[in-house]
Amino acid sequence: MKVSAAQKDYSKLSSQLLILGVFEKEKLPSHLSKNVLDAAKIEKFSGKDGEACYVRLNGKLKRVVLLGLGKKEKFDLAKVREFSGKSYLVASSKKVEEFCLDLFEIEEDVLLRAQAATEGIVLASYKFDKYKKKEDKQPEVKNVSILVSDVKLGKKGVMIGSVLGEAVMFARDIANDPANKLTPTAMGNIAKKISKESGMKCKVLDKKQIVKQKMNGLLAVSQGSIEEPRFIEMEYGSGKDTVVLVGKGLTFDAGGISLKPGVRMDEMKFDMCGAAVVLGVMKAVAKLKPKLHVVGLIGAAENMPSGSAVKPGDLIEYNNGKSVEVMHTDAEGRLVLADVLIHAKKFKPKAMIDFATLTGACVVALGHASAGLMSNSDTLCLKMELASRKSSEKIWRLPMYEEYSDLLKSDVADLRNLGGWSGEAGTSTAGCFLKEFVECENWAHLDIAGVAWGMKENSYTKKGATGFGIRLVSQLLLDWK
Ligand code: BES
Ligand code: ZN
Ligand code: ZN
Repeated sequence: MKVSAAQKDYSKLSSQLLILGVFEKEKLPSHLSKNVLDAAKIEKFSGKDGEACYVRLNGKLKRVVLLGLGKKEKFDLAKVREFSGKSYLVASSKKVEEFCLDLFEIEEDVLLRAQAATEGIVLASYKFDKYKKKEDKQPEVKNVSILVSDVKLGKKGVMIGSVLGEAVMFARDIANDPANKLTPTAMGNIAKKISKESGMKCKVLDKKQIVKQKMNGLLAVSQGSIEEPRFIEMEYGSGKDTVVLVGKGLTFDAGGISLKPGVRMDEMKFDMCGAAVVLGVMKAVAKLKPKLHVVGLIGAAENMPSGSAVKPGDLIEYNNGKSVEVMHTDAEGRLVLADVLIHAKKFKPKAMIDFATLTGACVVALGHASAGLMSNSDTLCLKMELASRKSSEKIWRLPMYEEYSDLLKSDVADLRNLGGWSGEAGTSTAGCFLKEFVECENWAHLDIAGVAWGMKENSYTKKGATGFGIRLVSQLLLDWK
């Protein structure tokens, strides 16, 4: 599907379908044909959120669909995405190959709105059906044209939106893939492939090299599985600032010896969604080319119970000199991330952000509406907050008080990988554990356990992996100052 921006000019409009967003109680634009105005009157169309009015015409324009946008004061970029996604679904149900989209009064902020609209349209078309028997081909939407008041800005927005939409779909595909297909080895190969395609540097360490690097957390977590771990390092661009992105890449998390219950254990194939964010952002920045040095690091492993698995009470000695007592083998993400965070220091990052489906406690605290943000830097948090408003991906800062770090004390080692057995402040204690391995003044940790999959469905986010975080971080890097 190709999305483009076109000058809004109703006198020249020729299309199979025009979708027009209308605010609640707003007067319909007078340039609409009488047929449309009459139909809206007869159907008492009032522009309420979710309302629709279909009109068939017989000129150069074949159909018009009016979609309610709800109250004007409540209309934000999240609504632009939702509305545009819905437009795609309407067009697709009408089996047209092409349609035009007009967001009533798109004049303000043309670039951001065109970007958001494009993301909504592209992502609404996402399906994960590669393992299903192919049904007879239905006609598909091939071209969408977004009508804007300023084509130059509109085109730029559409370009960014298309790149981000594609990057999110790419990440959704990787994350939705089952764990027997997407192994750590397969993830390493994907990183190599996208790096080669876009001229990025890429190193993938196999088990032997990981042993040599003494990445003992990654080794401990993966030692119970027949799947070898991988450590992935990708590099884009140059520039005075280096931003390091770190992802948790557990291609499956059975919990290890501290085995998880069977109910919904299948969902633990999504425990690599942090890594998918890193892969998606790297793919996007290679196309959007911000003036930055961006490094993507991933620790990929499978956490399984077996005779060779790491056991509760075992000790891990990290290559920065710190020791960790493994109290719970299901708190494996932090054990892997510790190695990756230590490694990140080598790039002397200006900022570092990690993404991880780290704790069930984060789902309890924030549900599926928001990611948990923990950070040592108010400046970085502010930047992320701004990017989050633009990308319509919610984040909420949680504290990292010393009281939580105190819970991580061990009798035999420098640290233990569990706060309290009752799970108190489980998300914050996990964040505090990671902090022990960070040497960067601008570090943020995003716990995406509640938002990486299973979010409330909307027009552009369906069941399965969401790709949450890719748009947010790409925006942050594009706006970087
Ligand atoms: N991958 C899980 C976290 C998770 C759970 C994400 C449910 C999404 C939904 C993580 O490795 C884990 O198992 N964490 C434990 C930590 C605990 C043992 C301290 C948890 O949250 O129960
Ligand atoms: Zn776990
Ligand atoms: Zn996990």
